Amino acid sequence: MKTFTSIAEWQIFRAAMKAGPIGFVPTMGALHEGHLSLVEASRVDNIFTIVSVFVNPKQFDDAGDFEAYPADYQEDLGRLEKAGVDAVLLPDAGQIYADDYRFKVTENEFSQQLCGAHRPGHFDGVLTVVMRLLNLVRPDNAYFGEKDYQQLQLIRDMAAAFFMPVNIVACATVREADGLAMSSRNQRLDKRQREKAATLYAALNQSSSAEQARDVLTRQGFEVDYVEDIAGRRLVAARLGDTRLIDNVRI
Ligand code: PAJ
Repeated sequence: MKTFTSIAEWQIFRAAMKAGPIGFVPTMGALHEGHLSLVEASRVDNIFTIVSVFVNPKQFDDAGDFEAYPADYQEDLGRLEKAGVDAVLLPDAGQIYADDYRFKVTENEFSQQLCGAHRPGHFDGVLTVVMRLLNLVRPDNAYFGEKDYQQLQLIRDMAAAFFMPVNIVACATVREADGLAMSSRNQRLDKRQREKAATLYAALNQSSSAEQARDVLTRQGFEVDYVEDIAGRRLVAARLGDTRLIDNVRI
């Protein structure tokens, strides 16, 4: 497995890559089985699988959340190597944002709803970094999790709007045994919060309406940002202490 901290060195390597479908999995590290399921999907579909690990400062609306975001590069690299990844990009923010973020991708409708209504600038940050990473990697296929459903939809729409020559592939949410969607942020839950966290998925599935799910979660001690039914899915974001959890199910 090759690792690149220098974008310039990556670009030389990329230019010399042999033909063959390339799959790409962008991540922010603190990798878990959810991330690795995307890597596996890419390995099935492609000859080469490239992963990026970059904690994107522009998509954090809350400085404390950025500071507290878990990072363990050595652990991540070990998992990626074991998973059969061909190359990992570990760029720093100075290289990704050499323009000081003068240029960005903005979406004005869906990105303002749901998570966007609670996290100003979040999806512009996501779309901008994904655009930059896709331009650097130029994959045939790029893999995203349904766990971040609004993100997945916005990335699909961006790729279509800009005629980007990439196939966006959606992957099912990977869950813990009790139903909690795997997330890097789960590490920040204490024991009691972790036990409670499984209610999120249960409430989505077992409630007869979004309002009922909201009531169940509020009673359990969650601070609910939203529960909404949109286009056949029920989506939720709720906080336990300082940790914000999101999930969604088909209804
Ligand atoms: P991150 O949260 O690290 O997630 C990277 C990818 O893994 C995303 O496509 C996400 O949807 C997927 N993923 C996370 N948890 C998952 C789970 N339990 N099951 C299936 N897939 C899961 O999402 C981001 O990073 C960033 O916004 C990024 C796209 C990398 C841009 O910075």
